[in-house]
Amino acid sequence: MSHEEFPTDAPAVVTCGLPYANGDLHVGHLRTYVGGDVFSRALETLGQQTAFVSGSDMHGTPVAVNAESEGVSPESFALEWHEIYKETFPKFNVDFDNYGHTHDETNTAITRSIVRTLEQEGYVYEKQIMVAYDPIDDQYLPDRYVEGTCPYCGEHARGDECDEGCQRHLEPGEIEDPISAISGNPAEYRERTHKFFEVSAFSEYLSDFLDGLEGTSNARNQPREWIESGLKDWCITRDMDWGIDYPGADASDESSSDREADGSSDLVLYVWVDAPIEYISSTKQYTDRIGPDVYDWEETWRGDGEIVHVIGRDIIQHHTIFWPAMLRGAGYTEPRAVMASGFVTLGGKGFSTSRNRAVWAEEYLEEGFHPDLLRYYLATNGGFQQDVDFSWEKFRDRVNNELVGTVGNFLYRSLLFAHRNYAGTPDASVSPEVESRIEEAIEAFTAGVNDYSIRDAGNAAVRLASFGNEYIQRNEPWKLTDDDPEQAAQVIFDCVQIAKAIAVLFAPIAPDRCAALWAQLGEDGSVHDVTVDAALVPPARSFDEPEELFEKIPDERVEELNEKLEARVAEATDDDTDDAPGEETETTDTTDMDDIEPLTTDRISFEEFQELDIRVGEIVSAAGIEGADKLAKLEVDIGLETRQIVAGIKQLHDLESLPGTRVVIVANLEKAELFGVESNGMLLAAGEKADILTTHGDAAPGTKIR
Ligand code: 2FM
Ligand code: ZN
Repeated sequence: MSHEEFPTDAPAVVTCGLPYANGDLHVGHLRTYVGGDVFSRALETLGQQTAFVSGSDMHGTPVAVNAESEGVSPESFALEWHEIYKETFPKFNVDFDNYGHTHDETNTAITRSIVRTLEQEGYVYEKQIMVAYDPIDDQYLPDRYVEGTCPYCGEHARGDECDEGCQRHLEPGEIEDPISAISGNPAEYRERTHKFFEVSAFSEYLSDFLDGLEGTSNARNQPREWIESGLKDWCITRDMDWGIDYPGADASDESSSDREADGSSDLVLYVWVDAPIEYISSTKQYTDRIGPDVYDWEETWRGDGEIVHVIGRDIIQHHTIFWPAMLRGAGYTEPRAVMASGFVTLGGKGFSTSRNRAVWAEEYLEEGFHPDLLRYYLATNGGFQQDVDFSWEKFRDRVNNELVGTVGNFLYRSLLFAHRNYAGTPDASVSPEVESRIEEAIEAFTAGVNDYSIRDAGNAAVRLASFGNEYIQRNEPWKLTDDDPEQAAQVIFDCVQIAKAIAVLFAPIAPDRCAALWAQLGEDGSVHDVTVDAALVPPARSFDEPEELFEKIPDERVEELNEKLEARVAEATDDDTDDAPGEETETTDTTDMDDIEPLTTDRISFEEFQELDIRVGEIVSAAGIEGADKLAKLEVDIGLETRQIVAGIKQLHDLESLPGTRVVIVANLEKAELFGVESNGMLLAAGEKADILTTHGDAAPGTKIR
């Protein structure tokens, strides 16, 4: 199904992946929340009725394990963090319409009702499975309580996810060589009866759903492989106390002895069941607060709502397979889009909470930086699905060059000129040139939103400011005030109109700074209540002397901040080099700058480069080569033919998961024979770990790379 372009007449909801209520937030965590906030504000700027919701993820082992290590109950532990998050997000102008949590009454009731419906519809069954158990501590070990080896890629993994390797979701009983993450005791497997949700029954539905799914291409494409390789049913209960009790077939009036009888009394729901349901619950709480005449959660979740999920790319499977299957099975509306962000690294390395190698959200603010600067950095530094690196140097450069140098500079110089010479906006109307340039910016903004690119939406305003600088420079109004006052007034009117358009189009990225700009322009009301059309409504007649909106970051500040970070990391590393149990590592790249080879100084000509025939390919099959430890034989579709290519990736990748992967190959490299197998081309991959190069979009196999 193809969707109507935004804005539509239906209510939209933008949701952000729920943070586990288990520890401090750093700037890396903020990426999806800033992304969701920008997107939801941008939809509203287009005129789309939008709710923006999220909440804290209170249950599950990520919370229980950390609470246990602090010696407190998971409930009080999670509630404390929940309160902190609730206060922190608004400080970054992340302005949820509702921010609830998964342990509240609304979510408990809706979760129980959805699970009951799934049972009644016949999608839930019982199965005996082996679960990890610590015989010394007499404790079951669900999910993060157990660690071991991933059965798919051999990496060290947590009980429910291969977080250091292939990133797969792992079902109970799958992890090999289990040990307790709490006691370190070797675990054994014991048989238990658990509830399963029949995800496999939704294969066909999910395949169609993905055909119509919008959002980032990683979220639309990756799940296809999972469906093609056969969906497994999903264990939705856990042997734990902390969580929402499994409701049973008819929990509303069921006595505890009935639940005892069906064996479900000591089971709680898997955290990933009740977590996404909070998206619905949080929307309902919003409606309960403001009234269904303003925003009706049922119209969204039971009717024709435009549901957009903004998440990190590590939880694509949950949002494109399990969650839509649950929604479908329980009769709720399917998501329209999933936007899955890349990771954030710090100076090229992963954030490490335990090593204090992070720029903490609170710390950023305490250093005196305006939240809108970070919002700009995170929202526009790369495509949403690309990884973004944060460093104080890069942050300074983008603030100084773009926010101060381009946007701030244009606004200050033109508004100061307008104020000094006309006490505000001169008497004129917008010129055709500037009108069409603003229209172009509105189109770019609208296209950015419809492409789910907050970077493009944000850049529409920055480009407009850049045009503004060029326009004022080219027309030199300061030379015209005496000789051609009418033309001078025209130029300055145009500049004020551009400034107003920037306030409207940049407000989703820099809400506070644009509200200040709006006030500076003498406009009534709030910039957050207007839509794109306001960009071309003539500006207010008078306004006060402007102030600079953005401040330069001096180089000394960067040095100082880097020193602080280094000292902190050194101290934490001396204290403790091991991550605590339940630690979020979030590491995507541990390459040290020292490991990077120096750049080659010899240049090649463009003609020499053109001699390389580099193509997009798609792996059709991948198998190891007998007798060769490292080599794999790949069949790669390059559009015009299928090539056999030998690559040194056998131990570095899960070969079974490779078919369907887009790759980049050198097609005209001379043929070679490796371990008796012909290699007809070369697969491009980065570094010691053979990080396979792929394409950012959907370029078809055979497409030439230039
Ligand atoms: O991975 C996580 O951090 C989870 N707390 C995200 C939950 S998102 C959702 F679906 F609720
Ligand atoms: Zn793995």
